[in-house]
Amino acid sequence: MFAGRYKKPKTNGRAVPLAIPRQTKSASDWDTFNYDHRSSKVAYDPVDLWDRLQAECPVSHSDKYGGFWFVSRYDDVMSSLVDWETFSSAQGVLVPAGASPLIPMEMDPPLHRKFRALLNPAFSPKRLAFFEGRIRSEARAQIAALDGLKTFEVCEAYARPFPKRVAIGLLGFPADDLPMLDHWISRLGKDLRDDPAVAEVGAKLSEYLSETLKVRAKRLSQDDLIGVVQDAVIDGQPISHDEQISMLMLLLFGGLDTTTAVLAGALGWLADHPEDRVRLRAQPELFASAAEEFVRFTSPASHMSRVTTRDTEIAGCPIGSAQRVMLGFGAANRDRRAFKDPNDVILDRHPNRHLGFGAGPHRCVGSHLGKLQVRIGLEEFLARFENFEIDDRSALRWEGAEARALAHLPLRVT
Ligand code: HEM
Repeated sequence: MFAGRYKKPKTNGRAVPLAIPRQTKSASDWDTFNYDHRSSKVAYDPVDLWDRLQAECPVSHSDKYGGFWFVSRYDDVMSSLVDWETFSSAQGVLVPAGASPLIPMEMDPPLHRKFRALLNPAFSPKRLAFFEGRIRSEARAQIAALDGLKTFEVCEAYARPFPKRVAIGLLGFPADDLPMLDHWISRLGKDLRDDPAVAEVGAKLSEYLSETLKVRAKRLSQDDLIGVVQDAVIDGQPISHDEQISMLMLLLFGGLDTTTAVLAGALGWLADHPEDRVRLRAQPELFASAAEEFVRFTSPASHMSRVTTRDTEIAGCPIGSAQRVMLGFGAANRDRRAFKDPNDVILDRHPNRHLGFGAGPHRCVGSHLGKLQVRIGLEEFLARFENFEIDDRSALRWEGAEARALAHLPLRVT
């Protein structure tokens, strides 16, 4: 198993291992080190590990889940994301693989471009400006439900239900179905790959989407995403029923855990940093750059993978064809080579070319919507609660996998 840096010697053009700089871990430590994005170490406390990997072993091999390379530096993650011809998404981006392919996330251009073009107009900033009022009403409704409470768990009480209600509204489900959808989506908050009972709920939701597509004759509103998917035509042919379901699933879930995680991480930071709350209240124009910075800092989509289509190299490390490469979006966003004081939140950080929404052809289609929800979610929370602090630090819980998130955050508010 490779665990070091490589460079190409001038003599024969073939890559050979370089000596590994010995700092906190020795070469042999890294030789037996298997990065695991689903481990509690990575969920709870990854920052020192990422830092050491970036310094000593920026491309490491893990034997976990059938084997993959883990890439931790910003420049390497960025260049792999942009080079989709070498680093393909078409064989899946999840490790281990999900139940069925996600469209358009698990496709390569040129087909990817055609599916993506169907979605882009629905997520443009101009289009989303129409939703701002609706999104704010959802945030206010969730906050109103907290009236009178002195302590609450913020994910359950606010950071999860708020984006869920927004997503359900944007897709355009019939109002009568909301309680049932709400219930299914909450059950599906868990990783489908680990729990057969959750997979069963996934099957029910997929069946429901299938029926909805069959029976619904017209869009509920001009902006409704079910309608966009229902009307989708590529190369003169309507897209297939399975493609429609896959797109709807991704549109429904792509923005849920991610937005929840950014909001929870942001509120956790603000609970511990009253000076940043004061600054945001004094300069409300900073909410927009703060939302961007909280996406960098929390990086919920922290590990997405690709498969190589040919022999290549990353940071001088030779990687053969058909190898799985996990890109550390979260690690890259804490790389001190790319960001000054990467482990601090700087509300007006500029420039902030983070990879929280990815890069290249798959850069998040919902990025404007995600940021809008984070901005409004924080504005409304800070408007309602003057002061808040973490109520019980021992109860903080993190979850890790492709998405890494603060999943339990008890707050005391005044
Ligand atoms: C702050 C919230 C969000 C974060 C951090 C986030 C993060 C990401 C990342 C990193 C990717 C790229 C994955 C890759 O390269 O393999 C992505 C793609 C995607 N996201 Fe988001 N996302 C967020 C919100 C949303 C929302 C609100 C939606 C839709 C309602 C959404 C829908 C999608 C879709 C459909 C893709 C696939 C795009 C493609 O393959 O072309 N996301 N997201």
